[in-house]
Amino acid sequence: MRTLETSDLDTTPLESIDVSDPELFRTDTWQPWFARLRREAPVHYLRDSRNGPFWSVCSHALIKEVDSNNTVFSSEKGGIAIIDPPVPQDGQIQGQSFITLDEPKHMPQRMAVAPAVAPRNLAELEPLIRERAIDILENLPVGETFNWVQAVSIELTSRMLATLFGFPYEERHKLVYWSDLATAVPGVSGDDSIDMKKRYEELMEAAGAFYRIWAERAQRPPSFDLISMLIHNQETSRMNEDPELFLGTIMLLIVGGNDTTRNSISGGVVALNRYPDEYKKLRDDPKLIPNMVSEIIRWQTPVIHMRRTALQDYELGGRRIKKGDKVVMWYLSGNRDEAVFEDADGLIIDRPNARAHVSFGFGVHRCMGNRLAEMQLRVLWEEIVKRFHTVEVVGDVERLPNNFIRGVKSVPVRLHPL
Ligand code: HEM
Repeated sequence: MRTLETSDLDTTPLESIDVSDPELFRTDTWQPWFARLRREAPVHYLRDSRNGPFWSVCSHALIKEVDSNNTVFSSEKGGIAIIDPPVPQDGQIQGQSFITLDEPKHMPQRMAVAPAVAPRNLAELEPLIRERAIDILENLPVGETFNWVQAVSIELTSRMLATLFGFPYEERHKLVYWSDLATAVPGVSGDDSIDMKKRYEELMEAAGAFYRIWAERAQRPPSFDLISMLIHNQETSRMNEDPELFLGTIMLLIVGGNDTTRNSISGGVVALNRYPDEYKKLRDDPKLIPNMVSEIIRWQTPVIHMRRTALQDYELGGRRIKKGDKVVMWYLSGNRDEAVFEDADGLIIDRPNARAHVSFGFGVHRCMGNRLAEMQLRVLWEEIVKRFHTVEVVGDVERLPNNFIRGVKSVPVRLHPL
């Protein structure tokens, strides 16, 4: 299938626009295509694609309508990504977690894990995050060009994950590796291609590592980490007896807390470099940081889409969705909806309604870790502005060919200390 070229924007027939092409996200050329769909067909049907037929929901209001209606739009029936879940091979374990469950099964499992990221625990965690952020920033190579993604975004989030899971600190990079593996899009060619058999084997290794941690932690008094919390909660204390649930929940927590925050850290630097006046605003008034964090999460939109499957016929924005249809909510498009956000493509760090973004979703599945993510970003930027006048982007930004996670692979930067 041919990738959409921006020069063909006006001549491509509406019915053949495929916004799910991973290349659109690698080349960062998705904007005009979604803008056209918002204008001409905010609920758009594509009959044929590499992911089969699907509906695209592109406006802010309609995304909210779908996401809030979990009785019609199921997360369980066909999964949460445009790509259908792999057909289980004989004897293979398929990770299954609460993000892909409908009610009444979803909520008890969510409630069991949620206390780990509740405000009181986050307040306890904040000094540690700050300490780790400072350590990273103080050791960056001033005067050299380096990859911000590797040195800061990945480093900070992997340290955080290791803390959250009580995972051996020296082996924290495994968490990043497993997370990347879990979210890679199959069928992509070149450097970013993945071997599904190898992926399965590696993910089983992850499961093994967490089984060992579980067994060891079960012998100890309760502690502040997710595994201990799962062990000591009635709803989840026997989760280790169900391999599908065990692997699925662990992977959900790793992926949820990893790529999304990492890419928001990288995206923030890219955005501020693209809008230098906003960078100046930030330097002049660091109190804008909490609002800027929401604006960066809107602008970056780390999760590009979520998918649902209609359990019954439903009329959405004047179109008739049929029972069984695949419905894709393009958060990336909702966050650029001109009807809600003035100059929606621009970064405006004091944007009054930055928090109205759809990056965390809505309804029962709304992101469980949103406060943790915001806190990490806030603390990091508070510490950056204390040390550096600018983190300057000095080369090309490389992105992932991925239509699910808006991934930034490399951002070459140079630091300008205060
Ligand atoms: C900027 C960072 C983040 C973004 C943009 C993000 C985005 C999302 C989105 C879009 C959803 C699905 C919402 C829906 O279907 O309506 C979600 C769910 C979830 N997120 Fe996040 N997330 C982020 C950070 C985190 C972190 C740090 C954690 C760590 C605990 C986390 C854990 C989860 C979990 C467990 C769910 C499933 C909730 C459920 O199904 O009830 N997320 N996230």
